[in-house]
Amino acid sequence: MKKLIIANWKLNPTTLKDAQKLAASISVKAKNKVVLCPPTVYLSRIDYPNLGAQDCFWQDKGPFTGQVSPIQLQSMGIKYCIVGHSEKRAVGDTDEMVNLKLKTLIQNGLTSILCVGFGTTVEQDDLEVTDVLKNQLDADLAGVDSSKIIVAYEPVWAIGTGKNATPEHAEKVAIFVKTKYGAPKVLYGGSVNAGNAKEFLDQPNIGGLLVGGASLIAKDFNQIINL
Ligand code: PGA
Repeated sequence: MKKLIIANWKLNPTTLKDAQKLAASISVKAKNKVVLCPPTVYLSRIDYPNLGAQDCFWQDKGPFTGQVSPIQLQSMGIKYCIVGHSEKRAVGDTDEMVNLKLKTLIQNGLTSILCVGFGTTVEQDDLEVTDVLKNQLDADLAGVDSSKIIVAYEPVWAIGTGKNATPEHAEKVAIFVKTKYGAPKVLYGGSVNAGNAKEFLDQPNIGGLLVGGASLIAKDFNQIINL
């Protein structure tokens, strides 16, 4: 079955030309479903079948300098949006803000990729991790139809560090999120690369991957999306 692979380019690359070059080098006929999430500023100039934003605001319009709203993304044909990434939570996004963003995204017909895992540490066992996740998910999904939300489990210590969680641990978390919250798909993210991606995709309850660093290397990313 096709799995969902999200490329989170973060604040890369530094020029439109490089962004277009990278997008053009990603296969459009991969085995898995692929969504590219370039920086918002490039979204309208990138040609790829499925595009997503890396964040959004919760108001449609008004005096909110520097923000981008789901209704604006929707008007540009953008169908996906990452919400609650740990790098956004680290600079101030709260669960309350994440919750408002999810609600506004649903209202505008976009699919949210809700990132959880902020605050988890490498020493924690499965039970402690699910405790942290429970707090986040209860707050983030309050009043939200979770059957419409894709959840990405990203242990914060694994992001951009080259240290990934074990596929077995990620599978346990995926089962927890699916059974307790009814999320249709749970992705794993955190130092996924061409060498370890298959072990995660082989887990029956992991519905796909959220890939940061390796999504900027066309050769590696093409390998991952064709597993
Ligand atoms: P990484 O990033 O693959 O570079 O660890 C993942 C993410 O932050 O989404």
